[in-house]
Amino acid sequence: MTARQLFVTTALPYANGNFHIGHIMEYIQADIWVRFQRMQGHQVYFVCADDAHGAPIMIAAQKAGITPQEFVANIAKGRKPYLDGFHIAFDNWHSTDGPENHELAQQIYLDLEAEGLIERRTIEQYFDPEKSMFLPDRFIQGECPKCGAADQYGDSCENCGAVYSPTDLKQPRSTLSGATPVLKSSEHFFFKLSHPKCVDYLKEWTQDGKLQSEVANKVKEWFTPNEQGLSGLSDWDISRDAPYFGIEIPNAPGKYFYVWLDAPVGYLAALKNYFVNGGPLARGEPRSFEDFMASPDVEQYHFIGKDITYFHTLFWPAMLHFSHRKTPNNIFVHGFITVSGEKMSKSRGTGIDPLKYLSIGMNPEWLRYYMAAKLNARVEDVDFNPDDFVARVNADLVGKYINIASRSAGFIGKLFEHRLGPISAEGQALIEQLQAKAASVSQGYEDREYARVMREVMLLADLVNGFVDQYKPWEAAKKPELRDQLWSTCSTCIECFRLLSLYLKPVLPQLVSAVEAFLGVAPLRFTDASAPLGAGREIGNYKHLMQRVDTAMMDQLFELEGSPSAAQATKAASNSSKPKAGKDTAEQTATTPNPSNPSNTSNPLAPGGEDIAHEISIDDFAKVDLRIALITACEAVEGSNKLLRLTLDVGEGNTRQVFSGIAKHYTPQELVGQLTVVVANLAPRTMKFGVSEGMVLAASHANEKEHPGVFVLKPWPGAKPGMRIH
Ligand code: MSP
Ligand code: ZN
Repeated sequence: MTARQLFVTTALPYANGNFHIGHIMEYIQADIWVRFQRMQGHQVYFVCADDAHGAPIMIAAQKAGITPQEFVANIAKGRKPYLDGFHIAFDNWHSTDGPENHELAQQIYLDLEAEGLIERRTIEQYFDPEKSMFLPDRFIQGECPKCGAADQYGDSCENCGAVYSPTDLKQPRSTLSGATPVLKSSEHFFFKLSHPKCVDYLKEWTQDGKLQSEVANKVKEWFTPNEQGLSGLSDWDISRDAPYFGIEIPNAPGKYFYVWLDAPVGYLAALKNYFVNGGPLARGEPRSFEDFMASPDVEQYHFIGKDITYFHTLFWPAMLHFSHRKTPNNIFVHGFITVSGEKMSKSRGTGIDPLKYLSIGMNPEWLRYYMAAKLNARVEDVDFNPDDFVARVNADLVGKYINIASRSAGFIGKLFEHRLGPISAEGQALIEQLQAKAASVSQGYEDREYARVMREVMLLADLVNGFVDQYKPWEAAKKPELRDQLWSTCSTCIECFRLLSLYLKPVLPQLVSAVEAFLGVAPLRFTDASAPLGAGREIGNYKHLMQRVDTAMMDQLFELEGSPSAAQATKAASNSSKPKAGKDTAEQTATTPNPSNPSNTSNPLAPGGEDIAHEISIDDFAKVDLRIALITACEAVEGSNKLLRLTLDVGEGNTRQVFSGIAKHYTPQELVGQLTVVVANLAPRTMKFGVSEGMVLAASHANEKEHPGVFVLKPWPGAKPGMRIH
């Protein structure tokens, strides 16, 4: 197989705000595909950039009292924590305001002009006489011409859905100055999309079978003449008058490209910049950006959301083709992410803040896995459902996949000096069953059918777990006569775990790199599926690879900070993450039994039923401020059969209120007057019953069903309230 040359991008996000979860979903989708291609040995150039231009950014910068350049530079500075945080492996992050883009956009325009596809026309537009600028539709408001609803934008009515032009609005006003806009004429530049050669070309380009069928069908509608008999495609207004933050049109002083003209050119600019900035030229390879883009074997793909299909399936291929450039091989369109079935809205607290997700210690690869489990190659919306998220990560990813290693690796280390042994016929058959899926798994990634791949991999994990249940290593370990069987069972598990890790690697790069280190193998590729580790192979010390999601984290993720109704908002937003009737997840004890963990996913071999958590440094530990607390009062909580309300003296001169989920194990009378240990620097949490200002420590088994009991910690006599625990 010869290595493919792939040029891959995601859409260029507007530089007017930080990333939201929709951006992250798009990046994860593309990143999985890119990593898969790299694992196949293909060469991928994966780039993106900030979409810097346009009136909204110019106006936002004005309001902030800085230049648009400073404004977008500030936004650009904030990108890295998101991209690194979610393991998004772009080769380059650039800006549409870079010099490459100015040059490329102008050149493409000149080429289109030479093709006779640019036309100048004088049009009338609303102008703000106070601000001395033409007003984009979104900066004009008035009454809807159809239904009369007040405060509607210049392009469409949010009340009745009517679509119109700004001049149809009644009582129009500029949202920038409040002034009544006046009509003013100006010369604009149009790209003649309606030219027969354009229409013919685009019909062919969009209907030749490469696009997703829903996308091709949607585009077909755009070609269909409307009721007035006008050809579907209308010419595209590509110019804006000064003042505008954008790229100047050559030979046309005071005229700028409309942001959507130079935005997709930014794909090329980001790649061109990469060639000299860390990429091929920087590495001393001879191929220039121009050679690369002219090469017929380079494939070009753009991942985008459904809302920008028109730009990517009509304008962009036409711009490229008629400026004599290579057109994309395909445009991969995805749907939108919703949260608990609702469109994202920061003000209503229904979004997920990606940085908050990371800052509360949630594993980025949980999200990558969850997105993969939901994404397919169709243009369907994807819902982030908190319940579903916890279930898929805990029951599938950790409970099925990670569990295979937890159930077997310890024995190989302890009883067989870290060496894999001979494998039985059944074990071999199982391994071969997993190997046989390599082609289907890689085809699934190639086709962006990630949900199908995740399902297939979890079914394979089920087979392996069934095998473990059949040969019960934890019992075999007690019987010396079953030593060979135990060795074979565990060695089979490790071979299978390697294959499943290989299959999940595009989704879980960091986890699988830890697996590679543990197995002592080179970075896994799909061709490695057929090459088992083999008997005699030495493996490393197994350390637990991934924790389960704690539902308290989910509650925190959806908590609205600083809102007086935080408790209610949290409830509304994460309603579905609450376990079934009668349980309060809201308790703040350190008891780990997690209501969403099916008890069968606890690990019977591990101490207390669960693997020791990831190693931390002494500095990590020092962040947790544990103090002795005196329980001065305690009472039941009305409406909860799990919670007790404790009043604690932590030596601060006042008391704290802490809720603890120990009502089934202690009576208030038993606790009052006792000393215990509290996490004193935990952020206060607003709960249904009030604010909890700390967490009382208690011990329990991960499988509380089989090993009942919750045990509150108590210091030796002599400790005093407020003393720190080191
Ligand atoms: N700047 C333009 C794109 C120019 S491409 C040459 C733009 N920017 S955006 O920031 O609004 O959107 C960037 C990408 O995020 C788009 O592909 C868009 O579809 C995607 N998403 C925006 N909201 C989304 C969701 N709620 N869900 C998934 N993707 C979403 O458009
Ligand atoms: Zn209306």
